Parts: sequence; structure tokens; C-alpha cells
Amino acid sequence: MTPHAHQTVDISLAERSYPILIGDGLLHSAGTFAALPRGNTALVVSNTTVAPLYSARLKSALAGRYERVIELALPDGESFKHWETLNLIFDTLLAHTCDRKTVLFALGGGVVGDMTGFAAASYMRGVPFVQVPTTLLAQVDSSVGGKTGINHPLGKNMIGAFYQPQMVVCDIGLLSSLPKREVSAGLAEIIKYGPIADMDFLAWIEANMPPLVALQPDAVTHAVRRSCELKAWVVGQDERESGLRAILNFGHTFGHAIEAGLGYGEWLHGEAVGCGMVMAATLSQRLGLVDAGFVERLTRIIEAAGLPTRGPLLATADNAGRYLALMRNDKKAEAGEIRFVLIDGPGRAVMRPAPDALVREVIDACCV
Ligand code: NAD
Ligand code: GLY
Repeated sequence: MTPHAHQTVDISLAERSYPILIGDGLLHSAGTFAALPRGNTALVVSNTTVAPLYSARLKSALAGRYERVIELALPDGESFKHWETLNLIFDTLLAHTCDRKTVLFALGGGVVGDMTGFAAASYMRGVPFVQVPTTLLAQVDSSVGGKTGINHPLGKNMIGAFYQPQMVVCDIGLLSSLPKREVSAGLAEIIKYGPIADMDFLAWIEANMPPLVALQPDAVTHAVRRSCELKAWVVGQDERESGLRAILNFGHTFGHAIEAGLGYGEWLHGEAVGCGMVMAATLSQRLGLVDAGFVERLTRIIEAAGLPTRGPLLATADNAGRYLALMRNDKKAEAGEIRFVLIDGPGRAVMRPAPDALVREVIDACCV
């Protein structure tokens, strides 16, 4: 079969470099996977929602390349992103005597992708894996860059590894079955790239919100491509987040507190990030880094994407104190000091601490 027309963005990381393929209908073509090493076994890891929709399509595209294509459907949801679910992947690999040339395919959103990547990083100390992201969020962010892992009850994505895939296949046709709420969640991670790195892209998003929300193919292809280019630019310079890569966490410090504080799965990750960006932008403004007009504009764009812009109450007695306690568990915190990704003038991000009293003011101002 001939490969479908597609665009390619390259992640340049020396021997860990790989392509991101972006196009409509990529899963219909065996040629999409032509560059992958051949092997005896492929394991398609998906979940109970996505597998019935797309795993037959992927398995048929892989059939000529691997002697065995086996499949595992994990329980669906952020609340299952933990050790017990991860172990189901190892159980399957071992029960089928999978060797170290086995290739894992993550077919799903960020939850499946993060867990499959972590399983690939640790099974027999590392087997190849491919990301086939099926949510907008996963296509523009989580499938790219090699962050893999699971949650701990005390903190989001606290256990994991940096481990790069062999390839990322973004078939935008798969997004047509995505619930509206998930489309909005993906838009949050797309919007994120504007204030931290590319204000022209933010203006394009602002002007193209209706076609984006409606998943119009040209608009989605452009948004996925530009997001992946910006992520490739960041990851290519700082794969293991010793500095620059932290800017991709704009909105995530507040957002992770919302996710953990409400219980994983209550708010979607993208919803928490959208609201977290409003809070981080407000903190940037209170520190004199951006003006109120910038915060208002960003808030309007986030709202237009169908995302919440007011933070939830995490505690009735001392809500700000609860946010602060949760944020001290953030991976960017150092010796208990929270480090925020802030906007230091539109299009430029910095990471720095902020006085607790000011953060409290921002939380009080931004929560319902
Ligand atoms: P998700 O994986 O939970 O998917 C969202 C929902 O959509 C699920 O119910 C899923 O089954 C369903 N779904 C997926 N594809 C579908 C399709 N095509 N049609 C219909 N339903 C479909 O959530 P997500 O937003 O994709 O990812 C969030 C996760 O990604 C979080 O755990 C977050 O921590 C992680 N993440 C990781 C990185 C990274 O760099 N590794 C970056 C951002 C987010
Ligand atoms: N999503 C943040 C990162 O990949 O670094």
C-alpha cells in the first residue's frame, strides 16, 4: 500500500531522533509504518474506549510487518494511570513471552501513551515503541518528546522516565470521534505554545477558533503541525528538562494542583491547564511582567475554546493554602519552594518563585 499524503516534523535528538507524521488517514496505510524495524511481535496497547474504534485498523496496517500482532485494552481514564494498570502491560508481555525486539504501539490519548511509553522504557530495560495518539491533546503534546510515566496519589506524573518513541503517527482523521470536551482539553495545550513562544501562532489560534473547535481538517493539521514544531524546537534543546523545557509547563503548576486536589479525572488535564494558564498569567501580571490586557486576551481565547477559566475550590477553610500545599509537590519545586512558569512579556516564558502572599492573592482572585 502507498503511504497517505502527510507532513513530517522531525525531532532532532542525535541517535534518538524520530519523525512525527501528520495527515488524514495515515492508519489506513501499511506504508505509514514502512520505516520501522521489523520484528516478531507487536503489542498494541489501547483502552476499552479506543480499541473498539481503531485497533482493527492499526492491527491490519501492521499485519505484514510483524508475525504476531497482539492487543491489550486497558481500563479507560486518568484515575487508572497507576501501577496496577501499568502492570497489566508487563503481564501481557510476559504471558506472550515477548522478547526485547517486541515493538509496543500506544493507541490512545495521553494516558495510554504515557503508560505504554513507561512500560516500553522498563520492559527488559527498554524495547522500542511507537506513539499513535488519538486525542488532540496527545497529537499536539503528550506523544512528542519522550516524557512517560504514571501518577502517584500524592502527585501527578511523579513516577516515570524520559524515553523517546521510534515514531509518532498523528492521524487527524481519528479525532472525529472525540467528545467535544476532549477537543477543548486539547486546545488548551495548543493555546499554551502562543504565550510561551509564538505570539503569531496565538493570533492565528484566536482568529481560527471556530474551525478548530469544529475540527476542520486544514485548521487542525496546521495547529498540530505548528504545535509539534514548537515542541520539537524546545525538546531538541533540552530533552531532559534541565531548563528551557520547563516552559512547556505553563499553567501546569496550578493545573496539577487542581487535578490532584479534585481527584484525578474530575477535571480533564487540558481543562486544568487552561484554567492554570489564567492563574499563571494573572501571577505574571501581579509581578509586573505583563499587562492586564494580555491576561484578558488570553482568558478570552481560553474561554472561546470551551474551557473553564475560574479555578475550583479545593478546600472550604483555606483554599489558597490547599493549592499551595499541592503545588509544593510539583516536580519543578526545589527544597519546597514552588517555581512557576510565568510570562515575561508576550511570547517569552521564565521560571521563577513568587512570594506565598502574592500567590494566595492570585488564587483568591481566580477561584470561584
Ligand atoms: P486521555 O488519554 O484520558 O483521553 C481522553 C479520553 O478520550 C479518554 O476517555 C479516551 O479513551 C478517549 N479517547 C481517546 N481517543 C479517542 C478518540 N479518537 N475518539 C473517542 N474517544 C477517544 O486524555 P488526554 O487528554 O489525551 O491525555 C491526558 C494525559 O496526558 C494526562 O495524563 C497528562 O498527564 C498526560 N500528558 C502527558 C504529556 C507528556 O509530555 N508526556 C503532556 C501532556 C499531557
Ligand atoms: N508537556 C510538557 C513536556 O513535554 O515537557
